[in-house]
Amino acid sequence: MNNFEYSNPTKLVFGKGQISKIGQLMKDKAGEGAEILVVYGGGSVVKNGILADAEKSLTEAGLKFIPFGGVHPNPSIEKVYEGIDIARKNNVKAILAVGGGSVIDTAKAIALGVPYDGDVWDFFLQKATPKTALPVAAVLTIPAAGSEQSIRVVINGNGRKLGIGTPVIRPFVALIDPEYFFTLPQNQIRAGVIDMMSHIMERYFTPTKNTDFVDGQAEAAMRSIMKNGLIVEKDPKNYDAWSQLGLAGSFAHNGYYSLGQVEDWASHGMEHELSAWNDHITHGLGLAVVTPAWLEYVTPKNPERVAQFAVNVMGVKPQETPEKTAEAGIEALRKFYKEMGAPATLKDIGAENVDIHKLAEKAVMIPGKLGNFVPLKAEDIEKIYALMR
Ligand code: NZQ
Ligand code: ZN
Repeated sequence: MNNFEYSNPTKLVFGKGQISKIGQLMKDKAGEGAEILVVYGGGSVVKNGILADAEKSLTEAGLKFIPFGGVHPNPSIEKVYEGIDIARKNNVKAILAVGGGSVIDTAKAIALGVPYDGDVWDFFLQKATPKTALPVAAVLTIPAAGSEQSIRVVINGNGRKLGIGTPVIRPFVALIDPEYFFTLPQNQIRAGVIDMMSHIMERYFTPTKNTDFVDGQAEAAMRSIMKNGLIVEKDPKNYDAWSQLGLAGSFAHNGYYSLGQVEDWASHGMEHELSAWNDHITHGLGLAVVTPAWLEYVTPKNPERVAQFAVNVMGVKPQETPEKTAEAGIEALRKFYKEMGAPATLKDIGAENVDIHKLAEKAVMIPGKLGNFVPLKAEDIEKIYALMR
């Protein structure tokens, strides 16, 4: 295990009806009578009343606010620029995101852009390092991206989808009410479950040795995600299952499951190229296509670790060799995705004609390689994309 420092200052406010507290929490951070930018998406929170409840709480706390809606999935840098402009003109002191990863990431990018003199896209191109940001709080409406507790922000811009990590944008509050997930469309339910599971896998598949403590927690979390994912797939108003998923999705991406170990992130890198190529591809569904192909490709380099996943997470019986056990585990993962109703091939997500050579080249353009469990060059990545056909 490696040395590490860990600090997660996000206050988690969890459960039914907790929204009434959001005004006071924002006031504690932003000050009496402060102006708040309330970021939301394409209208689901207007329809299901979550936005009105959040605004009521802000008003009761004596805060002013500007609603800023219209963020779409795979959020754009143009929307971020618009938000920065409004926030600056109105002397906004803090941002409240009411939505999922796309909304929270837009809020985070605005928060980075407001105090920065240059173009906020510089950060994503890694031409500059963020030093400060406006405070961001998140009212979560879909358990998936984990952005409500994460240090990451991912934005589509200029034909790319780029993410960065910086502690200055970790939300100071994450408010999670499992009842909010009852209105999710089926494809977002499955995408969310697959995404949160992937966030743990991206950490679990590590080159670091002697990670038993975190391994055991990660394996239990992944089993819980699969169990409860299959429940909400059939029963989308099951509070108990959603409460487990709300918790798991948020912890999946707050750094806990990689304490003292190197993380991977190759599958996310490959998926981000797909949802940059076509921003109608849902991130979690793209991951369902990428992940088994990636596992298949990397297994020969570390079959023991994939076999451990197969036995402890997928419930596969050990076979004659770790390779065979790993193979059965990958098959079981594919079966789980299928049961969740997720796509399996590039064709299933409308990407059968994508230029996989170009995609692979773009994936390594900034980082130079993808992944750490098995470091991948462009030619490896192209072969993995080919396995998704
Ligand atoms: O826009 P509205 O109308 O609100 O509808 C949204 C959207 O269409 C809908 N939705 C959300 N909550 C709902 C609801 N519909 C009904 N009832 C509700 N309660 O769901 C759709 C998807 O929303 P989105 O925010 O895009 O989902 P998600 O949370 O999966 O976020 C995906 C984005 O996060 C990025 C992804 O790449 C993608 O851009 N990620 C961010 C990460 C981070 N910052 O740490 C990590 C992740 O790996 C991921 O890359
Ligand atoms: Zn993800």
